[in-house]
Order: sequence, then structure tokens, then C-alpha cells
Amino acid sequence: MPKKIGLRSGQECHLVSPQDNPSNNLAAVMVLAAGAGTRMKSRTPKILHPVGGISMVGHALAAAKGLNPAKLAVVVRHERDLVAAHIAELEPQALLVDQDDIPGTGRAVQQALEVLDAQGELAGTVVVTYGDVPLLSTGLLAELVAVHTADANAVTVLTAVLEDAAGYGRILRDPTDNTVLGIREHKDASDAERQIREVNSGIYAFDAAVLRTALRSVTTENNQGEMYLTDVLALARHDGGRVAAVTTTDQWQVEGANDRVQLAALGAEHNRRVVEGWMRAGVSVIDPATTWIDSTVELAPDVTILPGTQLHGTTTVASDAVVGPDSTLTDVHIGAGAHVLRTHGSGAVIGEGAQVGPFTYLRPGTVLGADGKIGAFYETKNVTIGRGSKLSHLGYAGDAEIGEDSNIGCGNITANYDGENKHRTVIGSGVRTGSNTVFVAPVTVGDGAFTGAGAIVRKDVPAGALTLTVAPQRNAEGWTEANRPGSVSAQAAAAATTSH
Ligand code: UD1
Ligand code: CA
Repeated sequence: MPKKIGLRSGQECHLVSPQDNPSNNLAAVMVLAAGAGTRMKSRTPKILHPVGGISMVGHALAAAKGLNPAKLAVVVRHERDLVAAHIAELEPQALLVDQDDIPGTGRAVQQALEVLDAQGELAGTVVVTYGDVPLLSTGLLAELVAVHTADANAVTVLTAVLEDAAGYGRILRDPTDNTVLGIREHKDASDAERQIREVNSGIYAFDAAVLRTALRSVTTENNQGEMYLTDVLALARHDGGRVAAVTTTDQWQVEGANDRVQLAALGAEHNRRVVEGWMRAGVSVIDPATTWIDSTVELAPDVTILPGTQLHGTTTVASDAVVGPDSTLTDVHIGAGAHVLRTHGSGAVIGEGAQVGPFTYLRPGTVLGADGKIGAFYETKNVTIGRGSKLSHLGYAGDAEIGEDSNIGCGNITANYDGENKHRTVIGSGVRTGSNTVFVAPVTVGDGAFTGAGAIVRKDVPAGALTLTVAPQRNAEGWTEANRPGSVSAQAAAAATTSH
């Protein structure tokens, strides 16, 4: 039975889940990722470029894993060690297959099959996908597998009908009954074949035995001198197997990123889907076009996101919180009902009902308690701020601990670095500090203490004490008229003294 599921990315789609079809017998998914991706013109391998906060190959692994295959293999070659390390981190279960110097998708699959067969000959369905198709969902793959299984096909290819099919392999169909005959690569196609707009996505479900047999006959005799996986379709049909296509109308799901222009377009579409998913889940997004949310972010219903906001990494936002405008938050956890505006933050925790911003820089280790405040032009790092404590304007708090219901005055600084080492400032509860207080760490200020304006706190302050750094004030009368004669200031001073 088709059922509706919500994907983690917020997308919704109809699908037949593998669990609904115990006969699926999904032996393996192979992710092809050996290509160099030269058109990216990047030091970073193409498949490691991120879309929505996850590498493209990370998306491919997640989509594949969602199918619950018995085996998951990734074919690598270009920047092998870098790619292998990344994959091992994301998916330690995945089997890495090294492709040799024989080029082509057919060779990649042949070698993956050899490695998998060595662990026990595969039987049943083998799915092939690419490492650079980031929007492909488990849902669409499951549909492909469901049709493949239900119709007992030898090969089922995922296709799309494009306005501009240039560059893609074209789907050749029998003009009399419309069945799939095979695939012709663009470079090998005749002018008439190039008119065909139905293209090969490169994503397929194969019967393992058919695949194994057909690949033995695939050669490199074509315009590119590569072993084409696409040749398997005609070979399977020639051997009497059923070859069919599943055509998707959601072209984004089969689109690969070959250059940075396509990467940006896929990133924007991915984001559009994620943002739409959150809006459907009860989040108010005032301006989806300027709101960027990684697929790894979690939002609660009744969160409001204002324009120009980017939420990255493991960021979470609890209900009734308002984030933005113009905030960039990475791995930040925001409590219920908190307000965070015009803030750049990472690795921070913001308590329930707390307020942050505008123009605030939260660095890792910042923990703001419930109903607390970090106001305008504040920078914080490695600081724990208790419930209801407020750092309202202009300052730096680093390597510090502040108790509850304390009010840290305007322009306060923790002088935490002596040029070699960092030191801690500990401030108690119910403390009131005057403007421009400097805490020369290590230093401790007791509960209920006060400091005067401009205090330089070099020694510990006992609970309940007032700390003043007293430098006597001296007024040199008549100084302006004597030293700045004729100036605007001198004229103002002269006017003030004569009017007395
Ligand atoms: C391939 C298909 C084409 C399809 C298109 C869809 C073949 C022969 N052609 O073309 O019909 O329309 O994809 O995008 O299959 N790869 C390897 N090892 C290799 C070569 C490629 O692992 O030796 C991987 C690449 O990393 C990539 C994928 O296979 O993920 C596709 O490779 P690419 O060179 O982009 O294939 P196309 O020639 O574009
Ligand atoms: Ca390609």
C-alpha cells in the first residue's frame, strides 16, 4: 500500500516502503562516485561539496540507506583517500570499491559486483545511483524498486523528460509498443536520436544475475572508449528479460551537479523544499527566498523565522521562539519563546525566553540561561550565564561564569587573556556592575556585590561589597579658552561663562 511519509529533510512524498514489500529482496545499492568532477574546478572532490549542509555523497548515502539494502557499496577512484575517509565517517558500514583504470559506469558497477559477490554471490535486486545527485530521495528509489519487483523486470531505469536533453543518454523505445529497447549515449547518438527528450537519469534497479551476465558482454567500443552501464539494457532485452522505465516528473530528483552553477541551483531547490517542509510542519517563515535551513536542523511548531536567516548544522529551535532577521546560527540551540535577532552564533545554547541581539556575536561555549539577555554589540565565548542575568550592551564576556539575576553594566569586559594563558572570571548572583567595569581574570565577584563605573577588578570582591577604582578627578578651569582660543568649544565656553 502506498503511504505518505515525512522525510527528514521536510519533504513529503508518496511511496511504497521496502518494508511493505518483503519480496523486494534488495541485495545492494551501489553509489557510483569515482568520477573526477573536473568542471567544478575545485581542489575539493565534487561529491564532497555540500548541499543543504550535507555533502552530495552524504545525500546519496542517506537516500540509499533509507531503502534498507543488505549491502551498500560506493565506487571510488578520484581523490580516493579523502573520499574514503569522508564516507567511513558518515557510513562505516558502506563498502568501498576501488575502480581501476578502465573507464566507464559499466566498469564501476562490474567492480562493485565483483567485490560484493566475493562476500557471497548477490541475488535479487541491485540498485545503482550516483554520488552527485543530491535531491534524489529514498521515496523515489523505493518507487523504482517497487515497480521493478512487481513487474519482475530484468532492468528498470529511472527516466525524465527534459526540455533540453543535450548530454544525456537517450531512452530508445519500440515505436510499435513503446517498450524500452535501450539507451543511446549523446555522443554516440544520431541526429534523429538526439531529438528524443526522454533521458536516462543513471539510476536503475537491476536483477543481479542479469547484470552479472550482461556486463561480461559490455565493451569499450564506443565514441568515448568507456564501458557503458547503459549497454546492459539492450543486452538484457536481447536475452529475453523485461526492460522497463519509471519516469519521474520531479526532474530535480535526478539532476546531477556537474559545475558550480548547477550546484547552486540544486542547493536553492533543496533549500526551497526544506523550508516548505518546515512551513507545512507549522513553522512561520516570513521570506522563504532569504531563509536557508540545513537538512540537519530541527524546528518546533510555532517557531517564527524572519528574513535573512541561515540555520546550519545541528541547530534546534523550540516552539514560540523568534529567530532573525539577519541571523546566521550554526549548532545553536534555542529555547522556547526566546528571541534571537541580528546575531552571528555558533556552538551556543540560548535558554527559554532569553533575548539575544541585535548585532551580537555568540562564540562556542556560550550558555545563556532562561530569561537572560545578551544585548547589542556583545561578544561571548565559553561563558555560562545564569537564569535572568543580563549583559545588555557593548562588551566581551569570555571564560566566565555568571550567576542568576545579575546585571552586567554597559561596556563590561572580562580581561581573560594575559598574552599566554586564559583565566576565568566568576561572578555571583544578584550582582550589579557599573559601566566599563573590567574584570582582570582570574577573579571572583561574590553574590550581591556592586562595582562602580570604570572599576578595574583585580582582586576578588567579597559578597555584598562595593568595589570602586577611585582616581581623583581634577578640573582645570578656563583650560579651553586658554588652550583652544577661537575654537567652537572656546566660543561655547565663553558664552556659558558670560551668561552666568
Ligand atoms: C551517464 C550515463 C547517461 C546518463 C547520465 C546521467 C553512462 C554510460 N551514461 O552519463 O546515460 O544520461 O549519466 O547523468 O552510464 N562514474 C564512475 N566511474 C566511471 C565513470 C563514472 O564511478 O568510470 C560515476 C561518476 O562519478 C558519476 C556517475 O558515474 O557519479 C556518472 O558519470 P558521468 O561521467 O557523469 O556520466 P555521463 O557520461 O554523464
Ligand atoms: Ca554527469
